[in-house]
Amino acid sequence: MAQEQVQEHVISLNGIVKRFYIGKPNELEILHGINLEVERGEFVSIVGESGSGKSTLMNIIGALDRPTEGEYRLQGKNIGEAKDRELSSIRNQEIGFVFQTYNLIPRTTALENVELPMLYGKMKKTERRERARELLELVGMKERMLHKPEELSGGQKQRTAIARAMANDPSIILADEPTGALDSETSRRIMDIFHRLHREQGKTIVLITHSTELAQETDRVVKISDGRILAE
Ligand SMILES: Nc1ncnc2c1ncn2[C@@H]1O[C@H](COP(=O)(O)OP(=O)(O)OP(=O)(O)O)[C@@H](O)[C@H]1O
Ligand SMILES: [Mg+2]
Repeated sequence: MAQEQVQEHVISLNGIVKRFYIGKPNELEILHGINLEVERGEFVSIVGESGSGKSTLMNIIGALDRPTEGEYRLQGKNIGEAKDRELSSIRNQEIGFVFQTYNLIPRTTALENVELPMLYGKMKKTERRERARELLELVGMKERMLHKPEELSGGQKQRTAIARAMANDPSIILADEPTGALDSETSRRIMDIFHRLHREQGKTIVLITHSTELAQETDRVVKISDGRILAE
């Protein structure tokens, strides 16, 4: 029997406005009505000048922040109506975050960093360790997994961060300038890992990048300028 093809939007943003209140009567509108849909298994990049609102948008997509106006559905769930506890569970289970500055826990081995997101689940300690090892092997960190972040190169730190993002097998990976602090050769290696996760594991990936060259490699490039999406 043929499997039904459901063209489901994993991420669906409708009229998203974000304002920051910086003391009455000042309010700063940063996103001015964003409409964006991302399909399951898509690899999308977001490009735009510094200050255009990319990270603000990413924080909303990652349920780290709530929009001021508009509707956001993540895997069909209305995020605006979700309680804080639900949001943290969604962040832990459904989304893998990768940041420009790695955000690893210092003085803690790569292995333990990757195990950390699994602590909130039901996995046993031995299972967590096993999975963390597998993920670190997947990103080529087998030889370095007992090192602490301060003993790792930028590329090694970012590979550890990607392994950590994959810990709970999220369907979505959100990466905000993951290669922003890396040289071009190391960036290449990181991009190859994203391509592999996309191709082999069907991950939906949203990548923010300054590099139009790297953006060109993805399925779709979304340009954002001054809080608005330009024609794709
Ligand atoms: N919490 C906040 N309060 C007030 N203004 C904010 C806040 N967060 C972001 N902004 C403002 O929103 C605008 C967009 O910021 P954002 O970080 O989204 O830009 P960006 O596109 O990610 O830039 P970059 O490429 O430099 O990372 C900036 O003018 C910034 O100062
Ligand atoms: Mg940013």
